[in-house]
Formats: sequence, C-alpha cells, structure tokens
Amino acid sequence: MARILVTGANQGIGYLTCAKLASEASTGSIVLACRDSAKAQGAVQKLVRETGRPESFFSTVLLDLTSLTSVRACVAAVTGSVDVLLLNAGGIGGDDHLMLTPDGITRVCAMNVTGSAALFEGLLEAKKLAPAAVVVYASSEIARGMAPFSYMPKFAAADEACMTTHLVGQPGCGYFRLLPFMKVMNSYGYAKAIGTLYFQNAAADHPKMRIVAASPGSTHSTSAANGTPKIMQCMGMATQMWLMSFVGMSHAPSVAAQRYLDVLLLADKAPSGTFLASSGVFEGELVDQAPWYPQLWANRQLQQAAAAAVKKVIAK
Ligand SMILES: NC(=O)c1ccc[n+]([C@@H]2O[C@H](COP(=O)([O-])OP(=O)(O)OC[C@H]3O[C@@H](n4cnc5c(N)ncnc54)[C@H](OP(=O)(O)O)[C@@H]3O)[C@@H](O)[C@H]2O)c1
Repeated sequence: MARILVTGANQGIGYLTCAKLASEASTGSIVLACRDSAKAQGAVQKLVRETGRPESFFSTVLLDLTSLTSVRACVAAVTGSVDVLLLNAGGIGGDDHLMLTPDGITRVCAMNVTGSAALFEGLLEAKKLAPAAVVVYASSEIARGMAPFSYMPKFAAADEACMTTHLVGQPGCGYFRLLPFMKVMNSYGYAKAIGTLYFQNAAADHPKMRIVAASPGSTHSTSAANGTPKIMQCMGMATQMWLMSFVGMSHAPSVAAQRYLDVLLLADKAPSGTFLASSGVFEGELVDQAPWYPQLWANRQLQQAAAAAVKKVIAK
C-alpha cells in the first residue's frame, strides 16, 4: 500500500488528484503538503466527506516552497517512507515573480524549481523516499514555449551559468520580451524548463526510481490565473481560460488530475526521465516531448547543467 505525498494539495489540480488517489485500492495513505495549515485541514475535512476515507488516512505537513528553511522543516516533519511523491505545487508568480526570497532565489524559480528540488533532495538524504519511489514533477507546456506568451527557452549546451542567472534573478541569456508584463510568462517558462531538466537529470541519477516531468495541461477553474500579471487578470484571464475549453484549448481540473493519475500509476505510459506534455500547444494527448524538441528534452548536458545550477543554489 503506497504512502503518497502531494504538494499544493489544498486546492486546484493537487486537491482533485488527492481525491482520485484516495479512491485507488493501492493507496495506503496521503500526506498533504501545504503552506497554510488551516487550508490543509480544510482540504482534509473535504476529502473525508467526499471520499469516505477516515481522517486517519490523511495527514498534513507545512511546506512553503519559497523558503528553504520551510522545505527542511517539512522534510523533518515527514514520518516514514514516501513511495509516491507528486511535486504539484507551483504557479506563475505574479508581477513580483523576480522578487528574491530570503534565500536569494527568484519567487518564480523558488515556486517552480528549487523548492521542489530541495524537497526531493531532502527526502532522499533523510532516507524518507522509498528506493523505488515514483516522483512526478508538475511541468507545463510553457517549458517548451507558448507563443505569443513566451518563446522556447534557449540555453547554450551545458550552460550552468546561464541557468544560475535565471535562478538568482538576473536572467542573463535567452530572455527577451517586448512587452514588460510578458516577462512573467517568460520567467515562468524558463522556471518550468529548468525544473524539468533538473528532474530529467534526477531520473538518470536514480535509475531504480521512476521520475517523470509531466504537465497537467492547460486547465481552467483553478487559481493559476491569479498568478498572471495584474494586467492579464484585468483582461479576465480566468474567464478566458474557461472560454478556451470550448475551442479545445483548456480542460477541467478533473481531466488534469486524471493526467497526473495516469502518469503516477501507469509505468508504461510514463517512463522515467521523460517530459510528457500536450500534443497541441495547450491541450491534447500527453506525449513525450523529446522526439519533438531533442535539443531541450534529450540533452544530457543540459540536464546536468540544470542539476548543477539548482544544487548549488539550494546548498547555500
Ligand atoms: N492550471 C494550468 O493551466 C496549469 C498548466 C500547466 C501546469 N500547471 C501547474 O500545475 C500545478 C498546479 O496548478 P493549479 O492550476 O492547480 O494551480 P492552483 O490552483 O493555483 O494551485 C497551486 C497549489 O500550489 C500551492 N502553492 C503555490 N505556491 C506555493 C508555495 N510557495 N509553497 C507551497 N505551496 C504553494 C498553492 O497553495 P495556496 O492554496 O496556499 O496558494 C496551491 O495549493 C502548478 O505547478 C502549475 O504550475 C498548471
């Protein structure tokens, strides 16, 4: 019976995935890692009501990805061994996406890269991750560019220095947008790209585990739109994402949660080291991105560079 830890489990796709996982016979217990204890408790009560599982089936730990101190405390608070780790928490980061955290990391990279990486590394080091654990990192289609919001990240091969500039707030390469507010989406795209490369490298480093980067796909009716720049929110981003579902450009959170479930439970659909995202720009079948963009997702040098940059920043 698997012990599953889900980050960002109190709402959105993370919450719905917990609800679906609770219905699986193979699930032994679920740990909800959230940054707000009241929200975490509220989610547990709702899960108990909606799934019929007893309260003891669920537990909570506090986790704020924008603080490495909080990540370390979270690792210490996890009891027992985690069989399945769903690194779902993340987001766009809003207008202050480049503001530095107390650890000197941009908000957007802390939310989408270093927090999840530090949690993974911390659990490994504390021997709280099962030797054959399944680890899924929430990536996004934006990691491969999503014109006109952001373009495909360009890293020079093995360019650890370039990646570091993104993590610490002075994007020094491959970063260019004409409209200032578009910077947010560009930063978010780079963050998800670096996170994806980091977890691809982790898959190579830990061959007994199954480690996959997967996008839940363009999903309406979550709080994700609240992280877009104010100007995009004023233009009704949340409504626009919902309207996009009528032309096959977004889907409901339950569809996104099912995508996570397939990746978590169906090993043959989601081999270790892959980056799975929609076949279309926003939506579509979940497919391996490496054959389409080998320069990014089948590039060992780039994966190693991302891992080196991230590890250096979280070790400080
Ligand atoms: N929605 C989409 O179209 C889409 C597409 C591709 C990828 N994704 C990715 O899918 C994941 C889930 O997105 P969603 O749409 O479900 O978004 P959401 O409704 O905004 O949920 C995000 C979850 O992450 C948590 N979180 C945010 N910042 C955190 C931090 N610093 N520390 C700990 N937890 C934090 C949130 O906690 P609070 O409740 O406390 O804010 C919330 O539980 C994200 O990684 C997102 O980037 C989403």
